[in-house]
Amino acid sequence: MRVAYTLIEAAQIYSKIYTMRIRNIEPADYSAATGLYNLLFPEFRILTLTRLCDLDISNSWVLIHDNRIIGISIQGMRYFEDAYIPYIFAFGIHPEFQRRGLGNFLMSVACRFSPLYLTTRISNAAAIRLYQNHGFEVESIEEKLYISPREDGLFMKLIR
Ligand SMILES: CC(C)(COP(=O)(O)OP(=O)(O)OC[C@H]1O[C@@H](n2cnc3c(N)ncnc32)[C@H](O)[C@@H]1OP(=O)(O)O)[C@@H](O)C(=O)NCCC(=O)NCCS
Repeated sequence: MRVAYTLIEAAQIYSKIYTMRIRNIEPADYSAATGLYNLLFPEFRILTLTRLCDLDISNSWVLIHDNRIIGISIQGMRYFEDAYIPYIFAFGIHPEFQRRGLGNFLMSVACRFSPLYLTTRISNAAAIRLYQNHGFEVESIEEKLYISPREDGLFMKLIR
């Protein structure tokens, strides 16, 4: 199912359900966003978000609930096969808030422009389903990309 609502419609829908808002990430968010990243991806533990990539602030987003960051979509440019591609380096919703449609909402905002790329674990059924619902297709398999546990990655591309 393709998510068809506009950004404004979605914001209206969700603001009725949660005291939640979405905005571009700001440097003051880096510490809290790094904390959420480390909670979601403990195997990649990072000291600061800026070590992940050169952040594209205008295409990186935070979901905020009660002054707390509960979702991140972190985009930058990834060097891949002799070129730089727009790439989502981190995407996730705090475990307390998962399975309420917020991943769909965050992605509907994050994937406004294409092409756009990302990678996910081959076993991550929730993420694969979410990304496919938004128009991402498998481009290739990145063998043994992940550690703890060792696993292949699905390199996915959004084309519109
Ligand atoms: C993947 C993730 C972002 C989904 O966020 P979410 O807010 O729970 O997702 P939503 O509630 O918006 O649901 C999105 C879709 O995923 C599906 N989904 C969500 N959790 C699922 C699960 N555990 N198993 C199977 N499908 C699942 C939903 O059914 C929905 O599909 P639908 O629209 O066809 O019904 C979230 O589980 C997460 O942050 N996981 C940890 C970090 C991570 O793995 N990030 C991706 C790494 S690349």
